[in-house]
Amino acid sequence: MKGSLVSWKKEIIVLKTPEEIEKIRTSCRIVVEILQGLRELARPGVTTYDLDRFSEEEARKRGAKPAFKGYRGYPCSLCTSVNNEVVHGIPSPKRHLKEGDILSLDFGILYNGYYGDAAITIPIGEVSGKAKRLMEVTERALYAAIEKALPGNRLFDISATIQNCVEEAGFSVVRDFVGHGIGRELHEPPQVPNFGTPGRGVRLKKGMVLAIEPMVNAGRPDVRILDDGWTAVTADGSLSAHFEHTVAITDNGPDILTRI
Ligand code: MF3
Ligand code: CO
Repeated sequence: MKGSLVSWKKEIIVLKTPEEIEKIRTSCRIVVEILQGLRELARPGVTTYDLDRFSEEEARKRGAKPAFKGYRGYPCSLCTSVNNEVVHGIPSPKRHLKEGDILSLDFGILYNGYYGDAAITIPIGEVSGKAKRLMEVTERALYAAIEKALPGNRLFDISATIQNCVEEAGFSVVRDFVGHGIGRELHEPPQVPNFGTPGRGVRLKKGMVLAIEPMVNAGRPDVRILDDGWTAVTADGSLSAHFEHTVAITDNGPDILTRI
């Protein structure tokens, strides 16, 4: 383990050196390139399995290892969550995308010892006004939260900003999944909830690298897990969106390592 350590409620947060942040940036660049390829590929008729194949092949071509495959038994390289699916949708050759769907693509890789992780939600063809607004609000909440990723602020300043943006817009924040620290591991402390009280939580420090990932439902916040053991869906059947960036906290402000 490299770099200095911060302890918070017995959890150890690994601070990254500038050199390590550059390595994470390299991993994140691979993630973003592949997400851009997926964005172009995703259209009506294409299956979520086609997208999974593409993501894995593109990662391997670049010498990177898909981060999710085999993680706690997850069977694929990519998470593809359609419409009422919140996160961890499993790609399937039977799931054909259709006009009007919204599709969350969540992808992570390991390269040269460091992880990168990002997610986007994209429209398939023309989507409803409500779906568009849901995606816009979720992405806006993510960027507003990133602005709070500053040394001296508190972790839940990030969380509260997401919650405010989302609830102001009449949508709801999922409680069952959180963002996370990232570096030599895909999931490191601290957990980064998408709701909380401003001014609380661990003090943010230069060198922390966080995957911030709001999951937002158009209806109620509750989710349930399908029988496949992975796919989280909204309990009320409403649409859900998900955006994620890997962000480094620096003295020069938030550094979005997965910036497109
Ligand atoms: N971005 C998600 C996360 O950080 C994806 C994990 S999917 C899993 O939790 F399969 F790896 F669990
Ligand atoms: Co993540």
